[in-house]
Amino acid sequence: MKRVFSGVQPTGNIHLGNYLGALKQFVELQEDHECIYCIVDEHAITVPQNPKELKEHILDVAALYLAIGVDPKKAIVFVQSQVAGHAELGWILNCCANTGELFRMTQFKAKSNGKESVGAGLLTYPVLMAADILLYDTDIVPVGNDQKQHIELTRDLAIRVNNRYKDTFVVPDGRFMKAGARIMALDDPTSKMSKSAENIHSRISLLDEPSKIKKSIMKATTDSDGIIKYDLENKPGVSNLLSIYSVLSGKTIEDLEKEYEGKGYGDFKKDLVVVVTEALAPIKERFEEIRHSKELIEILEDGARRADEIAKKTMKRVRDNFGLGI
Ligand code: AMP
Ligand code: TRP
Repeated sequence: MKRVFSGVQPTGNIHLGNYLGALKQFVELQEDHECIYCIVDEHAITVPQNPKELKEHILDVAALYLAIGVDPKKAIVFVQSQVAGHAELGWILNCCANTGELFRMTQFKAKSNGKESVGAGLLTYPVLMAADILLYDTDIVPVGNDQKQHIELTRDLAIRVNNRYKDTFVVPDGRFMKAGARIMALDDPTSKMSKSAENIHSRISLLDEPSKIKKSIMKATTDSDGIIKYDLENKPGVSNLLSIYSVLSGKTIEDLEKEYEGKGYGDFKKDLVVVVTEALAPIKERFEEIRHSKELIEILEDGARRADEIAKKTMKRVRDNFGLGI
């Protein structure tokens, strides 16, 4: 069975972009893959965090994994900092990465742009991500499009180590959704939906109230020609709404275009409100049930134990191949 690994940062509002780009794949893959899903808290501290809030967000994301349908009987769910191998392998891979390739990462450029002082962790963050993946001999990494460059770096590092030392790592592949891999901001369809945007109506968080969902969709930026048609270049706003509608309803974009021929944006948006609200309601309900349960902590502890078992084996191989230790 092929092994799958992915992670999400515990930083606040998990939104529809995270869900459609990454999380939805987690559930599909667990049926016929050996899946490991991580809450990457060591990644979150590349920027300053409030410790109390960070702890809450870790449990929020863990509960959301379960609420969307990740099944701890089928998949390992755990918190990154509970398995020491991530930080250890992260260091070892830092010694194999070049600063040039890290400075070239577009996400680093975007996050450091205009800042006077930039944390070293922000630069080496993709190396820690590579460590997360390589630690588990991962075959497949389901993520959104924005992680493509990081997956490429992971592959480069794995191949570099395999060439320089003995065969050490499995070289993984990214897995991207056809639709949903890049959900755009509702208020500005030229930038991706993000956790950190100031305008709360730019995103729909998985735990949003129905009234907030309605407001965000009804306010979403479209265009002035009034035709419901998928055209990324000329109609990015409408195309983004069509993608969301299509993935959540299971209807194809072509079917939706036919269904809404001759109808206006108002009708289309009203129906989309219903589709989104109905898709998110059971997630919210399950989240409330599990978020403060003992079961959640038990699942994470059991997950960390199982993940650590795999990680320890890889680390032994890595130390041996690098000549570390006695
Ligand atoms: P993050 O919130 O950065 O930890 O991202 C968690 C996962 O969601 C990653 O796999 C991202 O690639 C994915 N993701 C984040 N934003 C979007 C978006 N706007 N559209 C699609 N996928 C996204
Ligand atoms: N960098 C990813 C993001 O910001 C999160 C992440 C960390 C990840 N480690 C990972 C994703 C390993 C997949 C595999 O979205």
